[in-house]
Amino acid sequence: MVGVKVAAALANVIDGAPGCDVPWLIRGSSHCKRANSAVIRPHSVTITEFGAVGDGLTLNTKAFQNAIFYLNSFADKGGAKLFVPAGRWLTGSFDLISHLTLWLDKDAVILGSTNSDDWPVVDPLPSYGQGRELPGGRHRSLIYGHNLTDVVITGDNGTIDGQGSIWWNWFHAKTLKYTRPHLVELMNSSGIVISNLTFINSPFWTVHPVYCSHVIVQNVTIRAPLDSPNTDGIDPDSSDDVCIEDCYISTGDDLIAIKSGWDEYGISYGRPCRNITIHRLVGQTRTSAGIAIGSEMSGGVSEVRAENIQFYNSSTGIRIKTSPGRGGYVRNIYMSNITLTDVKVAIRFTGHYGEHPDEHYDPEALPIIERITIEDVRR
Ligand SMILES: *[C@@H]1O[C@H](CO)[C@@H](O)[C@H](O)[C@H]1NC(C)=O
Ligand SMILES: *[C@@H]1O[C@H](CO)[C@@H](O)[C@H](O)[C@H]1NC(C)=O
Ligand SMILES: *[C@@H]1O[C@H](CO)[C@@H](O)[C@H](O)[C@H]1NC(C)=O
Ligand SMILES: *[C@@H]1O[C@H](CO)[C@@H](O)[C@H](O)[C@H]1NC(C)=O
Ligand SMILES: *[C@@H]1O[C@H](CO)[C@@H](O)[C@H](O)[C@H]1NC(C)=O
Ligand SMILES: *[C@@H]1O[C@H](CO)[C@@H](O)[C@H](O)[C@H]1NC(C)=O
Ligand SMILES: *[C@@H]1O[C@H](CO)[C@@H](O)[C@H](O)[C@H]1NC(C)=O
Ligand SMILES: *[C@@H]1O[C@H](CO)[C@@H](O)[C@H](O)[C@H]1NC(C)=O
Repeated sequence: MVGVKVAAALANVIDGAPGCDVPWLIRGSSHCKRANSAVIRPHSVTITEFGAVGDGLTLNTKAFQNAIFYLNSFADKGGAKLFVPAGRWLTGSFDLISHLTLWLDKDAVILGSTNSDDWPVVDPLPSYGQGRELPGGRHRSLIYGHNLTDVVITGDNGTIDGQGSIWWNWFHAKTLKYTRPHLVELMNSSGIVISNLTFINSPFWTVHPVYCSHVIVQNVTIRAPLDSPNTDGIDPDSSDDVCIEDCYISTGDDLIAIKSGWDEYGISYGRPCRNITIHRLVGQTRTSAGIAIGSEMSGGVSEVRAENIQFYNSSTGIRIKTSPGRGGYVRNIYMSNITLTDVKVAIRFTGHYGEHPDEHYDPEALPIIERITIEDVRR
């Protein structure tokens, strides 16, 4: 813990009311509250009406873009639904709009193109200053949204497959020019629901809400090979009021990683990650943690609550990771009822994680870690 100010209260409360000594904790419901419950969209189109072909070979980027452009005219009329039927729908990156439901039927698979040109390069995030792995921009996610409100990505357990292995190979061969893309990224958006779907083989982090509020991720399965590089499951980043429940995640990196920007860029952007709730998460990660906070946490992370968690065959259960230069804070964290089966390290704090965007970070910017309660951890 060298280089980090720590005031952690690690408790293992067996008797008594759980969490009774955690003043900020408001006893909440054990279900995510959905503001726009069961949105019914008055208009609906099917992707085939826009010329899409579900043969796994035809590139359908234009069909997705045209369908969504058309549906934009219903945004102020209660919004619309884009229905993706059974089939294998190859596409490059496309943009969502507000008041949209993207609905994937059972046996519908959206496949990410294996041509990196179909994933355009966009600006780095202001809170990171550069791409997370390489200087400059970064490839845009397959499914992307910016400045949106009221977006639902759901279905009858359809699949969004990033076909990430080609990106993992480029990463290992060090031939990438820009940071790898996420599978789904929503930026500066609110009222997001991601539910009832399966996400597989993301090139990089799988679901990335950044600068968002009111995000629900419910009943999703996220899978990537246990040795795939940086395939985090869900990364709430500089976002508030995020609720994640009933998810199964098995990937090559942290299953959930709560973040808020990187070193001097994250400090000056100053947008914390706040009020993050996790219920009933099950999963495994051979190399990383089930729930991580950091290592990028320069905007601060607070009010995280995780309960009824089960990890198996994993390296670490809960991990808080940071470094001198990050600044920021991690405080008011409450985690309870965690079952670990064949997990090497239950709880791990890392104060010298390293990894800086450039040489301009302030080594005196020490993160503050305080009021961490982790109770009822069992094997
Ligand atoms: C998001 O909103 C900001 C501020 O209004 C604007 O500068 C930016 O261009 C918008 N981005 C997109 C992709 O709409
Ligand atoms: C989870 O998703 C599956 C498949 O989409 C569905 O059958 C099931 O009812 C969902 N469960 C909940 C709790 O939403
Ligand atoms: C959804 O499908 C995946 C396989 O594609 C399966 O592993 C998962 O259990 C299913 N989820 C639900 C909730 O039925
Ligand atoms: C987010 O949206 C707000 C207004 O809604 C705008 O002022 C701000 O510039 C946007 N930020 C980004 C990063 O797009
Ligand atoms: C998931 O699917 C189940 C079963 O169809 C449905 O009851 C539930 O409302 C769906 N959940 C969300 C958040 O869409
Ligand atoms: C925390 O977020 C939940 C949504 O996940 C919301 O219902 C609740 O009001 C928020 N709590 C606070 C104190 O803002
Ligand atoms: C603890 O979590 C498990 C699921 O991981 C659940 O079955 C059990 O009911 C929870 N116990 C309490 C006291 O909430
Ligand atoms: C855990 O890993 C071991 C060895 O890799 C394997 O034999 C076992 O089936 C795994 N357990 C589960 C629940 O996947």
